[in-house]
Amino acid sequence: MIHFIGAGPGAADLITLRGRDLIAASPVCLYAGSLVPEALLSHCPPGAKIVNTAPLSLEAITAEMAEAHAQGLDVARLHSGDLSIWSAMGEQLRRLRDLGIPYDVTPGVPSFAASAAALGAELTLPGLAQTVVLTRTPGRASAMPEGEDLRVFAATGATLAIHLSIHALPQVVADLMPILGDCPVAVVWRATWPDQRVIRGSLSTIQALVGPEVDRTALILVGRALGQEGFEESRLYADDYDRRYRPRGTEPRFPEAS
Ligand SMILES: C[S@@+](CC[C@H](N)C(=O)[O-])C[C@H]1O[C@@H](n2cnc3c(N)ncnc32)[C@H](O)[C@@H]1O
Repeated sequence: MIHFIGAGPGAADLITLRGRDLIAASPVCLYAGSLVPEALLSHCPPGAKIVNTAPLSLEAITAEMAEAHAQGLDVARLHSGDLSIWSAMGEQLRRLRDLGIPYDVTPGVPSFAASAAALGAELTLPGLAQTVVLTRTPGRASAMPEGEDLRVFAATGATLAIHLSIHALPQVVADLMPILGDCPVAVVWRATWPDQRVIRGSLSTIQALVGPEVDRTALILVGRALGQEGFEESRLYADDYDRRYRPRGTEPRFPEAS
């Protein structure tokens, strides 16, 4: 069995208990380079085969998995953050399906959630934004599919979590400014790492605030919710809000719970 495990955003204790236990039970560990905290590898059992897959091709990675499977050995396959976004898991799973090798997937803490936590911010604030768009700008290895345009997403008013794009910050600002005006922005560099940095600004100020040291492992968050002001309170905890666990009024919707 190949266990794909989300290794979280950087801090070694931000992995699920299930993920940790699967690492401890797997005699082979493949990890995706420098973004996976080395400390997680200490959960590997003694004598485990540990391979950094950063310099390997997809064929070589698949061969490692196939070899372990043929020997009856479980593999812990670690990727940073969560596996559902920009993990290159999809192509590995397709190879495994073709080879008839079984796998499972254990989620991890994604970097957008770690960055929001670093900001102490909720990204969906009533009246300001009720949607988060997890997106990126085009890269050398991945073009954007037609229609997936940052300006189109911005026009919705959703909070934008822009990955893999800190190098393109000037273009991001140029694209968004005509649509969003001088909107709040935060850049979180190495969220949860010991040297984490949080930079708050607006579309007009953020470029001057972000220094050259803020490179690859940074998330750009844009949207009115980042301002953390001018939003309505959710009805959930309003005293007069009739809900299952706190019936209100003469005809509560869930009388059986009262
Ligand atoms: C290849 S993607 C991996 C995304 C990952 N699967 C996730 O769940 O967040 C790498 C990008 O994620 C973002 N990222 C990953 N870890 C981060 C961290 N600790 N702090 C800020 N951004 C991070 C950056 O935008 C980086 O360019």
